[in-house]
Amino acid sequence: MAELIDGKVVSQSVRDEVAELASKLKQDTGIVPGLAAVLVGDDAASEIYVRNKRKACEKVGIYSEEHKLPAETTEEQLLGLVNKLNEDTKIHGILVQLPLPGHIDETKILRTVSPLKDVDGFHPYNVGLLVEGNPRFVSCTPGGIIKMLDFYNIDIKGKDVVVVGRSNIVGKPVSMLLLHRHGTVTICHSRTKDLKEVTGRADILVAAIGRANFITADMVKDGAVVIDVGINRKDDGKLTGDVDFEAVSEKASFITPVPGGVGPMTIAMLLYNTYLSAKSTAESNK
Ligand code: GUN
Repeated sequence: MAELIDGKVVSQSVRDEVAELASKLKQDTGIVPGLAAVLVGDDAASEIYVRNKRKACEKVGIYSEEHKLPAETTEEQLLGLVNKLNEDTKIHGILVQLPLPGHIDETKILRTVSPLKDVDGFHPYNVGLLVEGNPRFVSCTPGGIIKMLDFYNIDIKGKDVVVVGRSNIVGKPVSMLLLHRHGTVTICHSRTKDLKEVTGRADILVAAIGRANFITADMVKDGAVVIDVGINRKDDGKLTGDVDFEAVSEKASFITPVPGGVGPMTIAMLLYNTYLSAKSTAESNK
């Protein structure tokens, strides 16, 4: 039976650290880290996510603002808001909640966020720094996955790591981080031939596909560490991951639950990145 990797415990340790660091920064420099979240449209899941971010900010002493815009907002209006936030000295982190409505060019928006305030790590400059191995902001979910592995002393070096999913938000950046930690990384996707054969070799398996219970026990090696990034809503309204938790936890050595696994880490890392951004502002003011 697998040991649970408890995202609530690990994320609390990150939040406690951020609260302490933010308080010291305020004491030393007078700067309070500030985060602006921008939400376009009324996607229910995104609204919950943004609300949780606000509460999390309050608890650790980070100033936060929310910009909720209607679904029919034009690209120009959104660019205007992002440019305003780029100039706002109270704001050190800008998060544009994805997905954006179809009529808005997501790439264009993400490239307009100042790379110095891009706490999601989505701007091409920051993606480049991450690939180079000198990240400024590590994307929150990928960074959270590494924190969890470290917290449970799970060694990455030399391990066969398989990432299923190649998104810009999770699959690609987490693969880079695992590679920098000396994992032997394979990235799989919907066109991968004989997926089961590849996932079956994984010492560490990261599932970031976005399909409920996609990873079944026959795809997992005995003793593997299984990280489930999926958040899918079942017909009964309950959340479930990309991994068949019941069956896979019989085979794995460690596994993350959904909810309570990777999810809480994303917000904790966002708070940490906002603090880092405020700290570098303080240093550049010196
Ligand atoms: N939508 C799903 N995950 C994320 C994330 O980490 N950041 C942003 N901005 N949008 C998301």
